[in-house]
Amino acid sequence: MIKRCTKDDIDKIYSIEEKSFADPMKTETMLKDLDRDSYFCYALSEEDIISFISFEKVFDEGQIISVATDPRYRGKGFAKKLFHEVIKSAKENGITFFTLEVRSNNTSAIALYKSLGFKEVGLRKNYYQNPVCDALLMDLQIGDE
Ligand SMILES: CC(C)(COP(=O)(O)OP(=O)(O)OC[C@H]1O[C@@H](n2cnc3c(N)ncnc32)[C@H](O)[C@@H]1OP(=O)(O)O)[C@@H](O)C(=O)NCCC(=O)NCCS
Repeated sequence: MIKRCTKDDIDKIYSIEEKSFADPMKTETMLKDLDRDSYFCYALSEEDIISFISFEKVFDEGQIISVATDPRYRGKGFAKKLFHEVIKSAKENGITFFTLEVRSNNTSAIALYKSLGFKEVGLRKNYYQNPVCDALLMDLQIGDE
């Protein structure tokens, strides 16, 4: 099942965030984000949340904020399935392209994005801290699919 996240989902999303990122997003930030109409967070769940994607809508651009799958369920196609649904519903909400930044050494995420059709469009040197790493900039046009 794919659903739009609510405040009731934040604890589970935070638990996936903290297992996935050295610098996880704070729950207070996520709670404030959910109050904004331009913020979208979708989750794929079975008994519990398995994978989530959040993004900000800025005019017709969807700026990906976070993507993660519970480590127990990685490599089973869940993030890809969720992304396909998110792209469908984003189109209905007037989004024509997605943008994102990813650590240039995050091979699994880059492979996921490429498998969805994202293209590399730039590199920001030393963009990330803890540890320092370049950011690969990627985008995906969805307007005329
Ligand atoms: C990146 C991440 C979200 C992928 O989630 P997932 O549910 O395991 O991904 P899926 O099983 O849907 O994989 C989809 C595609 O991604 C690629 N992929 C996923 N994991 C991969 C891995 N470990 N190695 C190589 N490719 C991988 C494959 O191309 C796969 O497509 P295929 O199965 O058709 O070959 C997950 O590894 C994760 O949560 N990582 C930590 C958080 C993170 O780095 N998020 C991205 C921040 S920008």
